[in-house]
Amino acid sequence: MTKKLRSQAWFGGTDKDGFIHRSWMKNGGLPDDAFDGRPIIGICNTFSEFTPCNAHFRELVAHVKAGVLEAGGLPLEFPVFSCGESNLRPTAMLFRNLASMDVEESIRANPMDGVVLMVGCDKTTPSLVMGAASCDLPTIAVSGGPMLNGRYKGKVIGSGTDVWKFSEAVRAGTMSAEDFAAAENGMSRSPGHCMTMGTASTMASMIEALGITLAGNAAWPAVDARRARLARMSGRRIVEMVKQDIVLSSLLRKEAFENAIRVVGAIGGSTNALVHLLAIAGRVGVDLTLDDWDRVGRNVPTLVDLMPSGQFLMEELAYAGGIPAVMKRMAHLLHLGAVTADGGTIGDRVEAAEILDDAVIRPLDNPLVADGGLAVLGGNLAPNGAIIKPSAATPALMQHRGRAVVFDDIDDFKKRIDDPALEVDANSVLVLRNCGPKGYPGMAEVGNMQLPRKLLAQGVRDMVRISDARMSGTAFGTVVLHVSPEAAIGGPLALVRSGDEISIDVAARRLELHVGAEELDLRRAALQVTERTYRGGYETLYVNHVQQADLGADFDFLVGRRGAAVPRESH
Ligand code: FES
Repeated sequence: MTKKLRSQAWFGGTDKDGFIHRSWMKNGGLPDDAFDGRPIIGICNTFSEFTPCNAHFRELVAHVKAGVLEAGGLPLEFPVFSCGESNLRPTAMLFRNLASMDVEESIRANPMDGVVLMVGCDKTTPSLVMGAASCDLPTIAVSGGPMLNGRYKGKVIGSGTDVWKFSEAVRAGTMSAEDFAAAENGMSRSPGHCMTMGTASTMASMIEALGITLAGNAAWPAVDARRARLARMSGRRIVEMVKQDIVLSSLLRKEAFENAIRVVGAIGGSTNALVHLLAIAGRVGVDLTLDDWDRVGRNVPTLVDLMPSGQFLMEELAYAGGIPAVMKRMAHLLHLGAVTADGGTIGDRVEAAEILDDAVIRPLDNPLVADGGLAVLGGNLAPNGAIIKPSAATPALMQHRGRAVVFDDIDDFKKRIDDPALEVDANSVLVLRNCGPKGYPGMAEVGNMQLPRKLLAQGVRDMVRISDARMSGTAFGTVVLHVSPEAAIGGPLALVRSGDEISIDVAARRLELHVGAEELDLRRAALQVTERTYRGGYETLYVNHVQQADLGADFDFLVGRRGAAVPRESH
């Protein structure tokens, strides 16, 4: 180790400042040699009992700490905003940027030389990686791991995905309210995050593909001893990364992002990956656009047969070899020279991997979906882009033309969707607006709109749905999301009227509103932009600074790397 550790700027002095920094730290029993120049590792913990997916992190962190100590470092844990998906209202996404600010400022302001990011539930992963990327210290991430498979009445059930299915079955009258209530107890039966290939599992896979975790990070269940071992080894490794000065930006290169895009395609990952990966790229200064996503991700087959696109769950993926095995299967599509947190390359991981189950990680000549990934659509309804997940859509609806049924916001949708008088049929296109970053605000996961009860009763199970919202990674259907620019800032979605014809052609990447340019100009001129009242505080900061989905919905003033230079002394 040649570089002076930044923590020594706090603890290395013999003056009153060194006294103050050391003395107060000693109140918990730290001995003198804790400050002898060994690497100090900050463990950034998103533990919260309001974030059940991360509620086991106190135990998991104990393993990280053991690893740090074994390698000769000093582990110091600090809490940050825990962006849990299942409880936060109005939507966890509203708080992703807030959490990232907490992470960035906590890292920079404190005497640490390296960071371990404890991530799990959906937004806890991007928020921590974004904040750490803006600081750019040596960093490794440890995911909390998925829950064990859900079980109900002898069947395997998946987080989220089966909630949507059961809820529609209740609405269609094919599942009793009692069975619905009973299924609740079988779905979440161990610590961990959603065990479908929802957003949390996608994020855990994405950061593994980016190379900022140890191999095997994504799939081992939270309760598997191999999860604890991975945490311990990550603790050991971060101390070495500090000694070798391996900063985050040396791993997060463009080829790492391209690997992540392709892996997200191969696993049938969540649409949320796109908005989060764009935001991370923005923080680290890598030029990544929606067009890159479509170019790099096009023609990647979906190989992993997991819900919501397929049938298995994360537990099976772990037993099949996890993400290293997936990467082995698709090695010809990857930058094998991309470097990883363990000091090796993606190529090394591929070489060491074994594919143990062809039903879960399907062969290239028998993929789940031949052209998987996330498709980026253009056209006059989404000039700056919109996305769809083909593996979760109905093939017959991927090229479709129908009449719009427009809902002005989520309240309007909830009020009218089950109205028997609603003019809607199976060919209609449901349009929901004012649910984007500024409109909702927070770009909620409401894009997978429930179907009208009267159509469910007729046996309809999917329709084309278009919005400026996001959708849960566990959801499915022919759902066009992230329409940009959003309606709330006057995007074309604001101009659509019920009865207008809309066409979608996923293969041609088009989303068109079939209304003449003149008529659209008239509508635009007549558009009333409703002045909304915000409650002040963070919500106002959010609305004033959030960018559109095609830019990752990050705050304009947070984009970029600000480093972790030691701030001046306060005493
Ligand atoms: Fe936390 Fe799904 S609610 S991962």
